[in-house]
Amino acid sequence: MAVNPQAAVALLQNAIPEMPSLGIVLGSGFQTILEGLAVESRFPFSGLPGFHLPTVPGHEQAAILVATVGGRRVVLISGRMHYYEGHSMATVTLPVRVLARCGVRTLVLTNAAGGIREDFRVGDLVCLTDHLNFIGVNPLRDSSSSTEVGFVDLCDLYSERVNQRLTHCGRRHGFQVHRGVYVAVAGPSFETPAEIRMFERLGGDLIGMSTVPEAVASRQCGLEVAALAFITNLAAGRSHREIRHEEVLEVLSDAGDRLAKLIADFCREVEWRRPNSSLLTLNLGPETTPDLLVKVDCVCPLLAKSKNGWSWRWFCLPVGYDWREIFGGKRADQVCRLKV
Ligand code: HPA
Repeated sequence: MAVNPQAAVALLQNAIPEMPSLGIVLGSGFQTILEGLAVESRFPFSGLPGFHLPTVPGHEQAAILVATVGGRRVVLISGRMHYYEGHSMATVTLPVRVLARCGVRTLVLTNAAGGIREDFRVGDLVCLTDHLNFIGVNPLRDSSSSTEVGFVDLCDLYSERVNQRLTHCGRRHGFQVHRGVYVAVAGPSFETPAEIRMFERLGGDLIGMSTVPEAVASRQCGLEVAALAFITNLAAGRSHREIRHEEVLEVLSDAGDRLAKLIADFCREVEWRRPNSSLLTLNLGPETTPDLLVKVDCVCPLLAKSKNGWSWRWFCLPVGYDWREIFGGKRADQVCRLKV
């Protein structure tokens, strides 16, 4: 069943008048990045409508935070609601939908993953170039309504611009940020060696139980998205060691310092805009159809015409938004250009 993000959006917008445009989701073990950060505000999942406290070790302090990282204001989601905990895809993707409606433009997802590719080692960092969704359900399945599209294009889903910046920052600190195709599985069990051999043949380089639902929802909401994985173990059959969740967390906590430096550098340097913006011309007249509203279901800069001429303004246009409000209740039967 659909989960309406609007209540959580209203709460956050009230408390944070200016939402940073960069968001980072901190997966298992990535919370070490928070140590020593100047946190401006903190919203535990327990107080956010529609959010659930994760049950997995490593996610107990789940919260949305606004903090300064590398000298820049960033919104961080510490902790995740996973599909393997029994949540619906609508719940799993809720934080992304909330951030998109609050004004975030670029979202970086982080996760712990098992290494499938022969040359991956424990401790390697990998930015995603693509994924194989083996969760068994499409993350947008229960997000469709009369005004929300599920038929989103997933080509070039993971931002090359962000990947390049992450690679560059890693190199400066003396480590390589690899690239790879992520296999998403439902979990919570780890895989069999035969499954891992199959995924390798299908083109998978690393494997985990998260990220893909959020990445796909990000595209649906019009966000620029990237994902950074930390290899915490070699996938099943790749080594003789048993795979344990506790070990996954231990490996990550040892790497905390390295990750914190990389993320801080990245936040300092990344340009906060979307590349290759193209302009769509929309006629937001009284005859506007629900189909047209679908296309503007995102936070977007809108070139709006008023009596003072054309000017860029930022608007949050959630599903079913009454477009007339864009112009303060005035008639909006003029042409608007939407930057996508
Ligand atoms: N498999 C699936 N998910 C994971 C793994 C793995 O080996 N390691 C960390 N998350």
